[in-house]
Amino acid sequence: MVTTDLFGIHEGKEVFLCTLTNKAGNVIKLTSYGARITWIEIPDKYGTKDNITFGYDTFEETREGDKYFGSVVGRYANRIAGGKFSIDGIEYNTPKNNGPNTLHGGPEGWHSVVWETEIMESSKAPSVKFSYVSPDREMGFPGTVKVSVTYTWTDDNEIIMDYSYSADKKTVVNVTNHAYFNLHGAGKGDILDHEVTMKAPSFTPVDPEMIPTGEIRPVSGTPFDFRTPHTIGERIGMNDEQLGLGKGYDHNFVLDNREEVAVTVFDPVTGRVLEVITDQPGMQLYTGNFLDGSQKGYGGTVYKFRTGLCLESGHYPDSPNNPDFPSTIIKPGETVRTRTIYKFSVR
Ligand code: GAL
Repeated sequence: MVTTDLFGIHEGKEVFLCTLTNKAGNVIKLTSYGARITWIEIPDKYGTKDNITFGYDTFEETREGDKYFGSVVGRYANRIAGGKFSIDGIEYNTPKNNGPNTLHGGPEGWHSVVWETEIMESSKAPSVKFSYVSPDREMGFPGTVKVSVTYTWTDDNEIIMDYSYSADKKTVVNVTNHAYFNLHGAGKGDILDHEVTMKAPSFTPVDPEMIPTGEIRPVSGTPFDFRTPHTIGERIGMNDEQLGLGKGYDHNFVLDNREEVAVTVFDPVTGRVLEVITDQPGMQLYTGNFLDGSQKGYGGTVYKFRTGLCLESGHYPDSPNNPDFPSTIIKPGETVRTRTIYKFSVR
C-alpha cells in the first residue's frame, strides 16, 4: 500500500511524502524532494521495529538540514577533480563546492530538486517512481538529462532502486543513493560494531583532496580488506595513510561480482542485516566521518560522529578525468538502466 501526503512546498512546487507498507507490515517513507528515502522501519531479531535511517520530521528541516540524507545524488555522485572535465575536447566547468572539487553534482544537484511523483499502481509491491528533467548546463553539465528512480518495497523487505537516464547530448552521469544506516536504530549509538563483508578485491586510493590517484590498489594486507567479515571499528583507527586522508573509511571499492550481494552489514546487537546488491562497478563506503552532531533529526535525535554509514553504489569518483576507469559517458539516444537493492533481514 502507498499513501501520499503533502510534505511541503519548494520553489512553488508541491513536495510529497509517500508511505509504503509491504505485506509484512513494514514501512518505508520517501519524499520527492531529492527523491529521498527518509524512513526505513524494520524489525530486529526479537521483532522490535525501529527506523534505521536518517531523516527529519518536517520538510523545512529536511531542506535546511544535511543535504544528502537518503537522497539520490547526481548528476555526478562523489567528486570531480578541479570542477572540470572534457568531452570530445570541449571543457566543462562545474561548481567547486568541496574545496577545489565538485561534490555530488554541485550545490544544487539532484538532491535539492523536486522530482515528479508517480505511484506505480500496476506493481504488485508498493512502488513509487520519481522523475526529473535536468536542463542543459544545470550545474555546468552538458545536455538535458531525463532521469527517474523507481523505488519498490517488496514483501521480503527489499528496497529495489531502478534508475533510468538518457541525454540529448554526450554527457556524464553517475547516480547513487546516499542513505545513512544504523542497524541499531538511527540515533542509537555508533556503527563501529557493525560487521561488514564486501566482495571487493581492490579500492581506489585518494589524494589529500579525496580525488582518486588513478591507482587500483589490492585490498590484501590493508584495513580495506573486507572480503572476510570485519567490524568498522576494528581497523578504522589504524595508522594508515588512506584512513587518515578519509578521516576513516570514505573510499570507493572496486566490485568483482556484479548483480550479486556486494556488501553485507550485520549488527550483532539487534541481529539486523543489510545486504546491498548492485550492477554498478563501485561502492563508496562512507562511515559518517563528517557527522559532527550538528544535525538533529526525528524527535530531536542527534546524528553524531560515525553513527551512520553509507553504501553508495555507482561509478568510481572522478571517472570523467580518469580514462582508465569504467566510463560514465552517455550518448544521445542511449538509455542507461541500473539497479541497486537494499535488502533487510535478521540473523
Ligand atoms: C560522501 C562522500 C563524503 C562526504 C559525504 C557527505 O559520499 O564520500 O566525503 O562528502 O558524502 O557528507
